[in-house]
Amino acid sequence: MLVRTPDGKVDIRALWMTRGTVRAIEQRLLPGKFKIVTIRTYKEMAEAISNMTIRGAPSIGAAAAYGMALAWIKGEDLDKAAKVIKDTRPTAHDLFFAVDLMLSKRDEDLARAADEFADTIVEMCYKIGQNGSGLIKDGSKILTHCNAGALATVDFGTALAPIRVAHRTGKRIFVYVDETRPRLQGAKLTAWELLNEGIDHAVISDNAAGHYMKDSVDLVIVGADRIARNGDFANKIGTYTKAVLAKENRVPFYVAAPVSTFDLKIKNGDSIPIEERSEDEVLFLDDCRVAPKGSRALNPAFDVTPARYVKGFITEKGILKPGDISRRT
Ligand code: MRU
Repeated sequence: MLVRTPDGKVDIRALWMTRGTVRAIEQRLLPGKFKIVTIRTYKEMAEAISNMTIRGAPSIGAAAAYGMALAWIKGEDLDKAAKVIKDTRPTAHDLFFAVDLMLSKRDEDLARAADEFADTIVEMCYKIGQNGSGLIKDGSKILTHCNAGALATVDFGTALAPIRVAHRTGKRIFVYVDETRPRLQGAKLTAWELLNEGIDHAVISDNAAGHYMKDSVDLVIVGADRIARNGDFANKIGTYTKAVLAKENRVPFYVAAPVSTFDLKIKNGDSIPIEERSEDEVLFLDDCRVAPKGSRALNPAFDVTPARYVKGFITEKGILKPGDISRRT
């Protein structure tokens, strides 16, 4: 991804491995501060996934693979490392896919295998960009939720990939960025990526999406954390609301994701585990408490959108209808 720094523009991934350690953009500090952290052990990697230094399903997958590589480099028990890493965040299927892939390669060089896995994610994102850009016409206004950009996918993005390709091929586009309470991944991360790339956009409060879908939004593209066999899918809390609004307003609703996000073992969305995070993420805005002391909060990090709301899944293999999933992935 392109990042503007005081020294000019740099092209950088969300995370990568170098000399036996993993380097990652500290996503919790953006957009205020651009900092690269160093992760040296699988336990540090598990903590970086849990505390959302690294977040977004495919980036979590790459982080999990690199965590297994760190355990391998240090000669640690791989089964124990796998369990610790799998216990970090329950919803993103890429995490489990990546750990199991590394376990299946346990007799190989896992540092190289993790690098190859991260490269594959990026290649898939470029293909998702190519496959989805045809949906975006010159002058299109697109709404997206959360951050399914380069930060979330090692590089380039899933939902943001067709948007990047459309922009780079000269289409004039505009992006409505849902702020995405409680952690504000839209306002903080998606807006930062679009600004770095020079893509015209505006952050809107989550509550404003219906207002704009009535007559301004041409297309919705979101990412996914886990997609069941029937096309029900989990994504950041608030996605379901946007899907219902899109259907009511006849706005096409697309989900962009690589095949590592499809969980073919799961028949439908009822079996997708939904992560519950700390109440404080809702009760506080950054360090400022917004609800009265004594009030409790509920904080599901994801919701499940039924397949009937999805016009298509933009994947590296093409655009799939929910009914195509078991045949084509
Ligand atoms: O809790 P997060 O920030 O990890 O949630 C991220 C999302 O919900 C993304 O939309 C999803 O992981 C797709 S990322 C390409």
